Amino acid sequence: MKLLFISLGCDKNLVDSEYMLGYLKQAGIEFTDDETQADIIVVNTCSFINDAKEESINTILEMAEQKKEGKCKALIVTGCLAQRYKDEVLKEIPEVDAVLGTTAYEEIAEVINQVVEGESHCIIMKGLDYLPEANKERVVTTGGHYAHLKIAEGCDKHCTYCIIPKIRGEYRSVPMEELVAEAEKLTESGVKELILVAQETTMYGKDIYGKKMLPELLRRLCKISGIYWIRIQYCYPEEITDELIQVIKEEEKICNYLDLPIQHASDDILKRMGRRTNKEQLEEIIGKLRSEIPDIAIRTTLISGFPGETEEMHEEVMEFVDEMEFDRLGVFAYSPEEDTPAAEFADQILEEVKEDRRNEIMELQQEIAFDKCNDMIGKEVLVMIEGSVSGENAYVGRTYKDAPGVDGYIFVNTAENLMTGDFVKVKVTGALEYDLIGEIADEFGK
Ligand code: F3S
Repeated sequence: MKLLFISLGCDKNLVDSEYMLGYLKQAGIEFTDDETQADIIVVNTCSFINDAKEESINTILEMAEQKKEGKCKALIVTGCLAQRYKDEVLKEIPEVDAVLGTTAYEEIAEVINQVVEGESHCIIMKGLDYLPEANKERVVTTGGHYAHLKIAEGCDKHCTYCIIPKIRGEYRSVPMEELVAEAEKLTESGVKELILVAQETTMYGKDIYGKKMLPELLRRLCKISGIYWIRIQYCYPEEITDELIQVIKEEEKICNYLDLPIQHASDDILKRMGRRTNKEQLEEIIGKLRSEIPDIAIRTTLISGFPGETEEMHEEVMEFVDEMEFDRLGVFAYSPEEDTPAAEFADQILEEVKEDRRNEIMELQQEIAFDKCNDMIGKEVLVMIEGSVSGENAYVGRTYKDAPGVDGYIFVNTAENLMTGDFVKVKVTGALEYDLIGEIADEFGK
């Protein structure tokens, strides 16, 4: 039996995919990346915003076609779309044999067996208060040199635009011992960079230890000898503590990089979004981070065209972006999600206006990013090699300022033979819009 696994959505969902691949491997199932050769197809879906839902549905439909025409005997849908629309998926796409909710993936191998033996229309759901165990046989799909460590599931923040608490449940931290053991296992298999993810990482531990324990977790992870870089994603601005700043300053292995989604800069909109910070507080937190950790790279995300956003409020965001000069920035056009309060708000904004505002912010950010890249010319940076550029004496890599998949890259010209995961010192010689160009200055503990 050969299985094709398609993972969509965010890096938290990717970790679930990697746990599922672990269970499937333990069950002796072979993998393929050729859909025409697959006996079983699993699609792990996303349903965060409309585009993500569309991508998930289109992928399932494509695989359903494959099942009609090819040798595929079992089509299984897991993850966030399955959790949210289980009945609709089974009803509208009859080729789907089973749906598994976001907390039910431990059952994946058994469900596949049942389907192959003739069962269909299986629905496997568990309570959203359940926290599946981290699978010790996880199959890392990110190349082996970096991996995500999911430190918690769910979210308690209930921002008015967000469906996640309904799909993933309330915040549940993974016990620290389990995380340290998982990190050790990952490094034994060659992982050098750990990326801490959760719907929000800064609240880690509050639910099970009675206080925020991210600093303590970071200190323990830093003690693992095979780890070179630890990167923290998805921090809520109001949860950044002095203790967290201190540990980032003290521990060399923690990248001076924070992902701090702020979503907007107008107090009115922030309030309507259910966010817990106003513009002044955001300025304060960002200012403090920059004064305490001068070379910190701050990434943020924004939402354009939230209900009620006036042209003036959009201008306020533009000014804020201009002043704050974020190192990395992404913008989503607001997508009204059913079952969220914001979808019912009056003053919904026209799609084209949301898109125009999104593009305007991105154009401004492009200039900021280009200036920042230009400022790097002549400097030496430590780079983790991601892979080679085909047909050229060049490699692509990342600095501590760049998370894989979302931030920029550095192209390194060299005739030397480098491997994925190698660290090299690179002198920056040129800049592109979001990326850098450089040449080897020195090699560093490969
Ligand atoms: Fe992630 Fe999409 Fe689910 S963003 S948590 S896969 S809804």
